[in-house]
Amino acid sequence: MLFVESRSAAAGREAWMRRFRVKSAHRDYPVVIGCGAWRALRELPLARYSSLFVLTERVLWKRWGERFLDHSGLDGLRVVFVPGGERSKSLAELERVASALLRGGADRRSLLILFGGGVVGDLGGFVASTFMRGIDCVQVPTTVVAQVDSSVGGKTAVNVGAAKNLVGTFYPPRAVLADPVVLSSLEERVFRSGLYEVVKHAILAGPPLFDELERRIGGLRPDSAPSLERLIAAAVKVKIDVVSRDEREAGGRRVLNLGHTVGHALEAATGYRYFLHGEAVGWGLLAVTRLASRLGWLGGPGDSGRSDGERMARLVERVGPLPPIRHLKPGAVLRLLPRDKKAVGGQVHWVIPERIGKVRIVPDVDRAAVAAVFRELQTR
Ligand SMILES: NC(=O)c1ccc[n+]([C@@H]2O[C@H](COP(=O)([O-])OP(=O)(O)OC[C@H]3O[C@@H](n4cnc5c(N)ncnc54)[C@H](O)[C@@H]3O)[C@@H](O)[C@H]2O)c1
Ligand SMILES: [Zn+2]
Repeated sequence: MLFVESRSAAAGREAWMRRFRVKSAHRDYPVVIGCGAWRALRELPLARYSSLFVLTERVLWKRWGERFLDHSGLDGLRVVFVPGGERSKSLAELERVASALLRGGADRRSLLILFGGGVVGDLGGFVASTFMRGIDCVQVPTTVVAQVDSSVGGKTAVNVGAAKNLVGTFYPPRAVLADPVVLSSLEERVFRSGLYEVVKHAILAGPPLFDELERRIGGLRPDSAPSLERLIAAAVKVKIDVVSRDEREAGGRRVLNLGHTVGHALEAATGYRYFLHGEAVGWGLLAVTRLASRLGWLGGPGDSGRSDGERMARLVERVGPLPPIRHLKPGAVLRLLPRDKKAVGGQVHWVIPERIGKVRIVPDVDRAAVAAVFRELQTR
């Protein structure tokens, strides 16, 4: 088994907590999920660090900083702020943060705590991996995307111009501590955007998680932490399982790109300003589901009276309304899809669902079929 699971029954209201261990070439690290997970910082060997820094966004820290200090028991933290938004994943911001750390007295034995969504995690992980050739970091994810996806797996990156994640490293954190209570301050749209990634994980995982999500999708709210924690744990476990087997995307990790081939093209075609990432992935999931149906892979109606393809599409749609794509020029989007193996160094692959719980990696798919599917989705 590649991950270890255990429950810790703390006293009182924080009775539920789930722990996994991610196997990594560099080091193994724990992922702790549940209301009160930040307390697990107390278990780290903090005495080995010369100083403790937090990288976060100002609004986020104002809302949650006190609770974090209370739960983690940390004092003497120095806080470095980054502006919110994808634009902070830049080399300019890396330089600014590195300078702030230096001014604040950071050295090789400092710990950097990354308190935020995927932007803080990706930028901060990159800073940690390069500052004085690498300092330890801990991921404290505060969005659904970050809790089920970006905080685990050790990928860090910044964007260069329009090229997303062009410069980055593999750098596992010392720990990942996800408390779903923090999701209660998320805007509804940002919350739902993360749920598309949860749907992606559920399609990869298959029946238990998929069925549960089908049952519960209508009732999920940002402020229902107790009901979210098990779902988040189940969703992140899918990623943990995959990256523990294949940290560097040589093989199995590619399945995590389900829905992302079309998703990335949609984001790029709209300058990364129109969709939230998860929303673009939602459209991408609808696209590959239709492509799979064209390939005759998704079978006929099952016990529920619906085919797997219909169930997947319905689950995506039930997350909430996706931003319309009717006005987009198909050519402009399709041009941004990877073309063939040589185009991006052999990295091109489509991940197409065969059924709920099983996907297949396909080197390329018929462009006419992709174009037809895109037009179908535009007039859906
Ligand atoms: N490294 C990986 O493996 C990986 C995987 C998936 C995504 N990503 C990256 O993650 C980024 C997207 O992550 P994201 O969706 O978390 O975006 P994000 O970090 O920009 O957060 C989304 C918004 O939510 C706000 N926010 C964050 N936490 C909040 C909270 N608790 N309450 C209220 N507001 C809060 C932020 O200010 C921001 O406006 C992208 O850059 C993507 O490339 C990386
Ligand atoms: Zn994604």
